[in-house]
Amino acid sequence: MERIDTDVVIVGAGATGLTAATRLRAAGLGVIVLEARDRVGGRLWTDDVDGATLEIGGQWVSPDQDALIETIEELGLATYSRYREGKNVYIDQRGEKRRFEGEIFPVPARTEDEILGLIDKLDALVAEIDPDRPWAHPDAKALDEVSFAEWLGTQTEDEEARLNIGMFIAGAMLTKPAHAFSALQALLMAASAGSFSNLVDADFILDKRVVGGLQQVPILLAERLDGAVRLGHPVRTIRWNPDAPEHGVTAVTDTLEVHARHAILAVPPILFSRISYEPPLPRRQHQLHQHLSMGFVIKVHAVYETPFWREQGLSGTAFSPYELCHEAYDNSYHGDPRGTLVGFVSDEAADEVFRLSAEERKARILESMSHYYGEEALHPVVYYESDWGSEEWTRGAYAASFDMGGLARYGADLRTPVGPISFASSDLAGKGYQHVDGAIRMGRDAADRILAATS
Ligand code: FDA
Repeated sequence: MERIDTDVVIVGAGATGLTAATRLRAAGLGVIVLEARDRVGGRLWTDDVDGATLEIGGQWVSPDQDALIETIEELGLATYSRYREGKNVYIDQRGEKRRFEGEIFPVPARTEDEILGLIDKLDALVAEIDPDRPWAHPDAKALDEVSFAEWLGTQTEDEEARLNIGMFIAGAMLTKPAHAFSALQALLMAASAGSFSNLVDADFILDKRVVGGLQQVPILLAERLDGAVRLGHPVRTIRWNPDAPEHGVTAVTDTLEVHARHAILAVPPILFSRISYEPPLPRRQHQLHQHLSMGFVIKVHAVYETPFWREQGLSGTAFSPYELCHEAYDNSYHGDPRGTLVGFVSDEAADEVFRLSAEERKARILESMSHYYGEEALHPVVYYESDWGSEEWTRGAYAASFDMGGLARYGADLRTPVGPISFASSDLAGKGYQHVDGAIRMGRDAADRILAATS
């Protein structure tokens, strides 16, 4: 067994772990980053699929994500805007396709009033929530005991309004059915992006992309760490001493032991329990970690010889709570003359299509895309489904959220270190929650806590 001695061992070479490592290194500490996969980036993965550059994981940057924007600038990466000229498409309950501009869907006037009323109500509630401490809201417990679906039901009897507002948080963000998470969890999701209005504004939330792909961020961070990242090293065991935290911690892989003063677990929280702890973690963490679970979404990429929808005056942006692909966008890659559409199939709809054969699933998904863009959408030259649910070191997409009641009950201890062990990942973030921005914030915070403790 190889042995390394260092100041901080970091488990996971995603945006969180690599940010923490960069900050600790800059402050003069020794770091080793142990990564299970044979690549860095975790949920950031830019790859070539049949000649097309695809963002298999995260890709968009929004203007409020200043930690991510700062990192992109520091690394000298260029960005470009998502294509958004022309009209958007909405499909209603009867399957009727309508073109529209702006954020509000072309629904009957009464439904539109209900949607606007709900957005105002949610914005007002979100303004009361501190994204870093949603459990501190005076009504946190009550809001965490009611599902988002039930809460919407108490606000309006208009089903189309409920479905549309639900879609922005459930299908588009937490990727769980609206009955499976609480109103408080929904408010955190919106507060993490500044407001609910920001979430419904596709031009805001899906604003920019990075030339070369967002995985450039972890790739360049890792390069600058110059030898500190060890790939293909799943951490199996963490040894620590609760009675003498100053004795530090040992992270054990199949062939390597890293002895350090501190450890940062920069992995999605559902994987905390994939590691054995000797001695075990405290009861609070044992319990807390069981109440977080991953959402589930299929990100579908379809590349066409030309961006044919643009010729029809369409932006590519499309929504419908009644469609298998509840949202879709023009996702053409910088410099590629071909056109790419990206569509999303979320939670229970994803379960349903994964029961089908690959061919049947592709046919169902493309048929749904064709409802937005016409028959040409049925014939992509490249087709790919990002399936993070079957990735051993992720197990879902986009990120983890609490089950009903979990956020108010356990949230305050989400980021509490245990002796020399810190927990960090985008799933634990307040601002930037579930996004790369949150990963960078969590990486910085974990590093700063260690620096404060060692100074
Ligand atoms: P991440 O999961 O990336 O990294 C953890 C690392 O730990 C992984 O590399 C994993 O292999 C490793 N690991 C796990 N267990 C281990 C063990 N025992 N030992 C060693 N290593 C271990 N965000 C955004 O800002 N804009 C967007 O457009 C999107 N879109 C999007 C689409 C899809 C399909 C996905 C899956 C995700 C997004 N996201 C996103 C979310 C974003 O990608 C995500 O929040 C961050 O990349 C998470 O970074 P972390 O470093 O926290 O975890």
